[in-house]
Amino acid sequence: MTSQPKVLIFDSGVGGLSVYKAIIARLPQLSIVYTFDNEAYPYGELEQKTLLSRVLGIVQRAVLKDDIDLVVIACNTASTIVLPALRAKLQIPVVGVVPAIKPASLLSHLAVGLIATPATVTRPYTQELIQHFSPHKPVELLGSTRLVDMAEEKLRGHGIDLHELEHILAPLHNKIDVAVLGCTHFPLIKEEIQTVLGNQVRLVDSGEAIARRVAQLLSLPMDEEDRGQREKHRIMSSTTPWEETALNMELNKLGFGIIQNCPYPMDA
Ligand code: DGL
Repeated sequence: MTSQPKVLIFDSGVGGLSVYKAIIARLPQLSIVYTFDNEAYPYGELEQKTLLSRVLGIVQRAVLKDDIDLVVIACNTASTIVLPALRAKLQIPVVGVVPAIKPASLLSHLAVGLIATPATVTRPYTQELIQHFSPHKPVELLGSTRLVDMAEEKLRGHGIDLHELEHILAPLHNKIDVAVLGCTHFPLIKEEIQTVLGNQVRLVDSGEAIARRVAQLLSLPMDEEDRGQREKHRIMSSTTPWEETALNMELNKLGFGIIQNCPYPMDA
């Protein structure tokens, strides 16, 4: 491994940036390659077979091309189906982001809300997580693609309509005391979700746990002093993103270079 380990972060869109932020805040020494499959976005509405083959194809190729040390599937929707196949294909560690049901259930005194994509809330993997880690605490499920879109819009400088958000989250009103942000896009609109759900509801996501797992697998110390000036991290999309200029401006602030377009199947 080089002195600066290379981590590939994968998502369907900008959601994985919430995981990137959590990782880089604790492990600033990493070099990041971020890849998003925006051509097939939203994954929450994609057929499973297509999702599986796209993730395998894109991730395997990026790992080979960029000499990656570790992969983070920063997408709950993908992780709930691709992890075994991906681990079987790759020789490097694969960390998957999945809904943080366990910590949420431990924190809750009433009921847990799982806010995720329409696919994630119906997956057998998620049902098993709930049976395993929240056997005595009810879990209310809420699947929404519109919430995912709202996070994409926010990263391009658009405001969030709190009335619309209130309408989407209304089924959870007064029913839960902990909400799992079970889609990596949602921490990007965390403040707005908190405002709508109220301060009596605690929000839980997987960012911190993923950063700890990455540090452990790469045997890296966390919270090392950031030694300043670094090269820009790389970012690739499977098609030209909408409002690309606005998105690139935000990505620049987060430490990325300009988005490179790598169509699927990508050129070798
Ligand atoms: N960010 C993704 C997740 O964590 C998927 C969003 C989508 O493409 O539907 O599930």
